[in-house]
Amino acid sequence: MSQFSYQNQSLFVEGIRAQTLAEQYGTPAYVYSRAAFEEHFKSYQDAMSEDDLVCYAVKANSNIAVLNVLARLGAGFDIVSVGELERVLQAGGDPEKVVFSGVAKTAEEMRRALEVGIHCFNVESAAELERLNAVATQMDMPAPVSIRVNPDVDAKTHPYISTGLKDNKFGVNFDDVMDVYQRAAQLPFIDVVGVDCHIGSQLTQLTPFLDALDKVLDLIDGLAEKGILLEHIDLGGGLGVRYEETDVPPKAGDYIAQVKEKIAGRGLHIIMEPGRSIAANAGILLTQVEYLKNNADKHFAIIDAAMNDMIRPALYSAWMEIARVEQADDDKPRVDATFDLVGPVCETGDFLGKNRQMSLSEGDILAQFSAGAYGFTMASNYNSRTKPVEIMVDGDKSYIIRERETLEDLTRGESVLP
Ligand code: LLP
Repeated sequence: MSQFSYQNQSLFVEGIRAQTLAEQYGTPAYVYSRAAFEEHFKSYQDAMSEDDLVCYAVKANSNIAVLNVLARLGAGFDIVSVGELERVLQAGGDPEKVVFSGVAKTAEEMRRALEVGIHCFNVESAAELERLNAVATQMDMPAPVSIRVNPDVDAKTHPYISTGLKDNKFGVNFDDVMDVYQRAAQLPFIDVVGVDCHIGSQLTQLTPFLDALDKVLDLIDGLAEKGILLEHIDLGGGLGVRYEETDVPPKAGDYIAQVKEKIAGRGLHIIMEPGRSIAANAGILLTQVEYLKNNADKHFAIIDAAMNDMIRPALYSAWMEIARVEQADDDKPRVDATFDLVGPVCETGDFLGKNRQMSLSEGDILAQFSAGAYGFTMASNYNSRTKPVEIMVDGDKSYIIRERETLEDLTRGESVLP
């Protein structure tokens, strides 16, 4: 995280003090580093070959400035809705490098994706395959398809973000997938090009990925025996990141080297769909301490960011580092205590961090780290709170890439009865 580092006890985002950004743009604010996005993307791109494709998972952070920074480096994109597709197009992304995942693609979404000419549909059920064939037939445009296989491998991650077990809704059961491929091969407007697998998110070990890969390779060999030859293997996303000092996730380069070794000799291109490992440590959430209070023996720091801005701690019990952006001694009256950092939302689950030993004063600016992925994209207007501003730092310049929402934005499209 060299793009977010302390110099003389002040947190910098690339060349700008975080405190200065908070003063200039207000809080809460999401602040991203262009260089961090680029470095993380390149850690995949450099390890892969020319014919392989890194399809950044748009859901992690879908701001068009982020997508544009990655598109300029040649990124492909993994999308799960037509909304994400339109973002990619608006950001200058190449539709021929888009893969379309998700269990519930509508006919409308399929039409738009065919019209712009995406790289591949990652089909998640036999029923979806039939619908896609019908839409493609109507449009007289063959649809390139991978079947997403559910390999029944435990990703050993939080249950809400584990997707490769047989009782998860994702993909086609391993036992049924051969039949679905054989059906796909018969359908006139389905062009079978690959296989897809994504077993979960925030994986901190390689073993589950490699176990899933072994099963997918068995499938590929079985398909070849039946004359169904694939061009690519899409391994999804899922590589974990460091949230705590003790997290030691595998590096993208090491993961890809092992994948290449396993698939060697099959003439397959590799597609990957990383989201978190590109975006999480490319962003922070800045928030200000509004009040300090005690209830009985409990110390609370009430901050101006809440679960509606960053839901990960509330939803997944996620631990994310939080620290003062200015750490030098000052003459402010401070409370040294173990704090719960809680927001303004009326829910006991509204916290960004619990039991944090900190020295705090009203008005302090705090940074929640690793907030670049699944932060803003999961934000809501709960409690009629406006969504934060998003800022991108590039060297010693900063840019608003999404304005803070206004009170007018909150009721846009609403009306009262006549
Ligand atoms: N491909 C597919 C089909 C996916 O479903 C996902 C994430 C990815 C790629 C990207 O996975 P990543 O590299 O980011 O792990 N909101 C949760 C994470 C949900 C992940 C959903 N799918 C969180 O904040 O932890």
